[in-house]
Amino acid sequence: MFADRVLSGMRPTGGLHLGHYHGVLKNWVQMQNEYECLFFVADWHALTTHYDTPQLIEQSVWDMVVDWLAAGVNPARATLFIQSRVPEHAELHLLLSMITPLGWLERVPTYKDQQEKLTEKDLSTYGFLGYPLLQSADILIYRATQVPVGEDQVPHIEFTREIARRFNHIYGREAGFEDKAEAAVKKLGGKKAKLYHELRIRFQEQGDDEALESAKSLLDEQQSLSHGDRERLFGYLEGGGKMILSEPHAMLTAASKMPGLDGQKMSKSYNNTISLREDEASVSKKIRTMPTDPARIRRTDVGDPDKCPVWQLHKVYSNEQIKQWVMKGCKSAGIGCIECKQPVIDAVLEEQRPMRERAQLYLDDPALVRNIIADGCEKARKLASETMRDVREVMGISYT
Ligand code: TRP
Ligand code: SF4
Repeated sequence: MFADRVLSGMRPTGGLHLGHYHGVLKNWVQMQNEYECLFFVADWHALTTHYDTPQLIEQSVWDMVVDWLAAGVNPARATLFIQSRVPEHAELHLLLSMITPLGWLERVPTYKDQQEKLTEKDLSTYGFLGYPLLQSADILIYRATQVPVGEDQVPHIEFTREIARRFNHIYGREAGFEDKAEAAVKKLGGKKAKLYHELRIRFQEQGDDEALESAKSLLDEQQSLSHGDRERLFGYLEGGGKMILSEPHAMLTAASKMPGLDGQKMSKSYNNTISLREDEASVSKKIRTMPTDPARIRRTDVGDPDKCPVWQLHKVYSNEQIKQWVMKGCKSAGIGCIECKQPVIDAVLEEQRPMRERAQLYLDDPALVRNIIADGCEKARKLASETMRDVREVMGISYT
């Protein structure tokens, strides 16, 4: 239960583009081979800002899942699901709201930032204020250890850690905790019990983080411990009481430097995107009509790649040899801009080819996608309900 588990979500607010591919999806595809991964469509999160365009959300959900699959996210390796199909997220959100100070939510930087940025929308809503807490519920309900996110989301992960700590602090204090924890230590067996005690003291008295990590891995290896004892032993290590919710870590994904068609970062709001599965003719046309170094008006004018958005794309897509050809040809007016763009067009089409092929399979048979999601939702619900059982119990609402 405490082995690494990766969780990430994406809001369905429109089709994905190559910026999403280079910034996020490539990373997911790599992680699915190294960790247990859960990836979900954050449809409730989309509604916090797009509550007035429900049609957009429904369409985007399925398009987005096809985009994920097209990019190489493999349903045999990662669990793919839709947030609203696991209603336990909402239940945990509600229960966590009981202990969440308003000030914590108001201080999350994205709250004011987004309100200022999205002026065309009224975001003075209860739902929008609660956005980071809903995200905490998403993460804590799976006891995720790693959450791949961009820089802007790091405060949400930090917030989630604080919520987990507060929850454990309030509800982790069961009667006779120390005695129960000591009894659980005995169950580890003589040698391991002794080691556990030593490591615990080294951490608590000397703040030795390595001792804490060793003790945690010692516990990870114990297959036969009951769930309750495991929680007690984790909690006992760090002081307090039972650790019911575990604190996740942000796994910072390098900011996507994927440039758009105008040299700015690729983003829907700049209208400079190439969508993930855009048809070939449209890709060629978009790149052929891209702006170039504005000083290069005639074919005979020399240019400067550093002032040209096409060069930004060469940096992503071209090898050294091509890049040198561009540098030299541009600065000497030895090549034309259309000529210069061709290797970029070829490389983008090449990158998209397997994506288009994979997507076609799912477009031809939409039931495949529904089944993948149905399976994923079922797996996710199972994990989520285990956490909810513990949460309800400590909050006094399990009524068995
Ligand atoms: N807030 C995230 C974003 O805008 C999306 C998200 C919702 C998420 N819940 C999450 C990401 C849980 C990681 C984990 O990108
Ligand atoms: Fe840009 Fe290439 Fe034209 Fe130079 S030759 S201005 S780099 S498109």
